[in-house]
Amino acid sequence: DWTAESFVETTVAQLKQKLGDDKVVLGLSGGVDSSVAAMLIHQAIGKNLYCIFVDNGVLRKNEFEDVLESYRTLGLNVKGVDAKDRFYTALTGLSDPEAKRKAIGKTFIDVFDHEAHLIEGVSWLGQGTIYPDVIESVSVKGPSATIKSHHNVGGLPDFMKLKVVEPLNTLFKDEVRAVGRTLGLPEAILGRHPFPGPGLAIRILGDITPEKVQILQQVDALFIEGLKREGLYDKVWQAGAMLLPVQSVGVMGDERTYERVVALRAVTSVDGMTADWAHLPYEFLANISNEIINRVKGVNRVVYDISSKPPATIEWE
Ligand code: XMP
Repeated sequence: DWTAESFVETTVAQLKQKLGDDKVVLGLSGGVDSSVAAMLIHQAIGKNLYCIFVDNGVLRKNEFEDVLESYRTLGLNVKGVDAKDRFYTALTGLSDPEAKRKAIGKTFIDVFDHEAHLIEGVSWLGQGTIYPDVIESVSVKGPSATIKSHHNVGGLPDFMKLKVVEPLNTLFKDEVRAVGRTLGLPEAILGRHPFPGPGLAIRILGDITPEKVQILQQVDALFIEGLKREGLYDKVWQAGAMLLPVQSVGVMGDERTYERVVALRAVTSVDGMTADWAHLPYEFLANISNEIINRVKGVNRVVYDISSKPPATIEWE
């Protein structure tokens, strides 16, 4: 007899009671959980919810602008923070996947802590933690968990000393989506594939440069747009592209080229713990491969990942 409507009604009432005139700071990631948590808290306390959305330089193409715009349309009090350069600096020269994750986690904490300090009298930290995150203590998902796994580096940042409000911590993912739908979140946010916190940084194998990010953003956007156009986006659980640290020989007109290789990855899954490679139509793969090679400068070869998890993982790093 659980319904999203009654959950919203009770939770908003409880949040009003609990938070009163207090201020809450919350980091938005563009994903479902943080967005739904923000909408719920916003219903309870309005402008006293201060949302922060950080551009870490490794988001999808146009994602920062698009998502920020939809948050504003929803009426959220949201500050977009362009921290691209700080993240690129922190990532310079790093190739090891865990080193990249740590650099991104630490930089996010520094940026978020700085922003939280700018909000006078804030006393709560809002988080989009959902029930599986609570029971699965090893979870590495999302900014909140990134924070948890790094908070022992050099003492607790100040915002971690705030009281925590987690309105979704009894819900499963499908319930979170139902609540989001009731709250009027657009399908573009609700139906979104999972996207890792470290973003494209773990899809560029090896070291990160703004130029590589730019190439991968273009490839990823063509792939995702293609999936949507062909009605395949909602049939796969997650999809994306990897920029490989190899160059290969190709031919363009009379010229020999020596350029980058990208791997496309699309999987079907229930929870990401196990996954099968998505059996996308050959026709689609053929077209998307041509489109990518023709349109993205610096890429002359596309491969499709046909590994399942286990033994492979979804991401390549
Ligand atoms: P793997 O590659 O382990 O990925 O099969 C399983 C799911 O987790 C996501 N993932 C991450 N999410 N921070 C995140 O927030 C991370 O460091 C991270 N690594 C993997 C991945 O995108 C997939 O959905």
